[in-house]
Amino acid sequence: MPHASQRPADKPIVPRHVAIIMDGNGRWAKQRGLPRIEGHRRGVETVRTVTYAARDLGVRMLTLYAFSAENWNRPRAEVGALMGLLELYLKKELRTFVRDRVRLMTIGRIEDLPAGVRRHLAATVEETKGFTDYTLVLALNYGSRTEVADAARSYAAAVASGRERLDDGSWERFARHLYTFGMPDPDLVIRTSGETRVSNFLLLQAAYAEFIFTPVLWPDFTKVDLAAAIEDYSRRERRYGLTSEQVKPAKAAVK
Ligand code: IPE
Ligand code: IPE
Ligand code: MG
Repeated sequence: MPHASQRPADKPIVPRHVAIIMDGNGRWAKQRGLPRIEGHRRGVETVRTVTYAARDLGVRMLTLYAFSAENWNRPRAEVGALMGLLELYLKKELRTFVRDRVRLMTIGRIEDLPAGVRRHLAATVEETKGFTDYTLVLALNYGSRTEVADAARSYAAAVASGRERLDDGSWERFARHLYTFGMPDPDLVIRTSGETRVSNFLLLQAAYAEFIFTPVLWPDFTKVDLAAAIEDYSRRERRYGLTSEQVKPAKAAVK
């Protein structure tokens, strides 16, 4: 069904949950003759600006794909540098998130991240858990396929212990075992850098998301680009399998 965030057709429809595949840091650096890590460093600056830009534009939840389950296969030095940057970012942002009432959540296999990163994550998630207006979700060591495998194991264990019943095997019951339990599905998924693939990101949750692919490299992505993506989203008709005629009266009825 259409989300509650859908408003009358004459008003811009702001996506409640925006998810971004932040891509292009390496190419941004290469174009300038800089090491890849310099691109990642600039990428962190973009994370800071986009976190607040999304909130200013009325978004309630922002999920950022920061490190995929497959990214461990990059050169050791790059993985190490990314983990170092992540730890530094979390250390710096904790106070800012508390001050600005930003709730931090994570999705992914957090247990495999370095101890320093886990410590800062745990502290930030705990200290911001009471904030309800705006949530930043970091996808870290995230992959949809591992998520499904983890969920299937968790679901099977719940069935074995009698907490789930096999005969109520609905999507809603299964989805309680995903990392995203309790989060709304993304309304809009943006990928930067011109690549037009999903790269194992929120495959199930984005079942009815709108997708926007922009050529802008992540370090160059600005509030203006985000606003343009939201504007494009607001002009789309989300049909959820219905016909256009069925969707239109439903929109008019909310007026
Ligand atoms: C995205 O930028 C950041 C991560 C995947 C961690 P990339 O590092 O993938 O940049 P490109 O795709 O090589 O330009
Ligand atoms: C996807 O970007 C992962 C993140 C943005 C964290 P990649 O750069 O790793 O994706 P592929 O390898 O080009 O598909
Ligand atoms: Mg990439």
